Amino acid sequence: MTNFSKRALLLCGSLLAFAASAQAAEIAMAANSTGKNLNFIRERLAEFEKQSGHKVKLVTMPPSSSEQFSQYRLWLAAGNTDVDVYQTDIVWAPQLADQFVDLTAAAKDVIGQHFPSVVASQTVDGKLVAMPMYTDAPAMFYRKDLLDKYGKQPPKTWKEMAETAKEIQDKERAAGQKDMWGFVFQGSAYEGLTCNALEWVASAGGGHIVETNGDITINNEKAAAALDMAKSWIGTISPQGALAYKEEEARGVWQTGNSVFMRNWPYAYALGNGADSAIKGKFSVAPLPAGADGEAPASTLGGWNVAVSKYSKSQDAAIELVKFLTSAETQKKRAVELSNMPTIAALYDDKDVAAAQPFMPQWKPIFETAVPRPSAATKVKYNEVSSKFWGAVHNTLSGSGTAAENLELLEVELTDLKGSGW
Ligand code: GLC
Repeated sequence: MTNFSKRALLLCGSLLAFAASAQAAEIAMAANSTGKNLNFIRERLAEFEKQSGHKVKLVTMPPSSSEQFSQYRLWLAAGNTDVDVYQTDIVWAPQLADQFVDLTAAAKDVIGQHFPSVVASQTVDGKLVAMPMYTDAPAMFYRKDLLDKYGKQPPKTWKEMAETAKEIQDKERAAGQKDMWGFVFQGSAYEGLTCNALEWVASAGGGHIVETNGDITINNEKAAAALDMAKSWIGTISPQGALAYKEEEARGVWQTGNSVFMRNWPYAYALGNGADSAIKGKFSVAPLPAGADGEAPASTLGGWNVAVSKYSKSQDAAIELVKFLTSAETQKKRAVELSNMPTIAALYDDKDVAAAQPFMPQWKPIFETAVPRPSAATKVKYNEVSSKFWGAVHNTLSGSGTAAENLELLEVELTDLKGSGW
């Protein structure tokens, strides 16, 4: 070999090495820590690293959606380059749209597999702000063994729920189960309470806080009656401590066998049937109750997505990761292992998913009729609207002002916030 060709070969080699190192990126992803989400993502990231050659650092976020949002807002406002991929709640798209990369082109080969309503929730002014990872629609979890023991049916109305909860709770306590409660839910002052209270209000015909046309409708008698109803649960069928419960605290009481009913999201299904659960095989799920007989129940639409920061220095690798985490393969694993609901319609007909999570095929209509929070209507002000709403609800539940007083005040605050428009 001539000296020249040796040098040419060496040059080729180092160019190849350079190309490989330019392609292998180091990125970071921020994710929520409710249930087993982080374990699942960690395991998936290992697989992604193997397949792609990229390295991914996992940044742990708190379980509260509201705390996670506050942190994201600070990071993004500061143009943070340390986090490339963000796990995002369904309601954040309009508020964070400007900070994320448009995924329309990158997702065009797969986006048609996902439910159009979920894709629409993540599309702001024609820009695909985040890719859907899973959807969420809550359930009334009930202790089948206890309902059977006392000859009860899953409740059709909130009133029936409270009566059944009280009767079974009292009888179980009398029989020695001193820690038994009737009903646990998310009563802490955060986004989860907005979801719960929207369900009480909407199922009573009290509207949706702010309607799709931007009208503020929350100050009405039906909404006030719905909040009074929930207030009556505190200390009777629900512990005082429920005023500080998020998803995981409610699940803690439920999963140790100390509640007849629980309002929670589908993730609690797989965990409740886990090897370490005191209620494994003893419970089932039903749609949430309605406000009155013959009326429709209301389930708040939830769900999580993944977005790429526009400040990311490795956007291509970040997009690759987003596609991996939202793929049919990962969504199927998520459904089977974590009982999170896929956003890919075909997975509801998948035999393995149905075998692992028998409730899931029946849950599709619940998700399809779920009630969205007013995030599209209130745009960049959603978080403030929600925090004022959950504040008014929390005050009512804790006895600081009546429902009617708190909703009147809320209307004034929301009107002020709206100004000349949302
Ligand atoms: C669930 C929902 C999410 C909601 C949150 C409230 O995680 O998927 O949309 O905001 O609960 O706690």
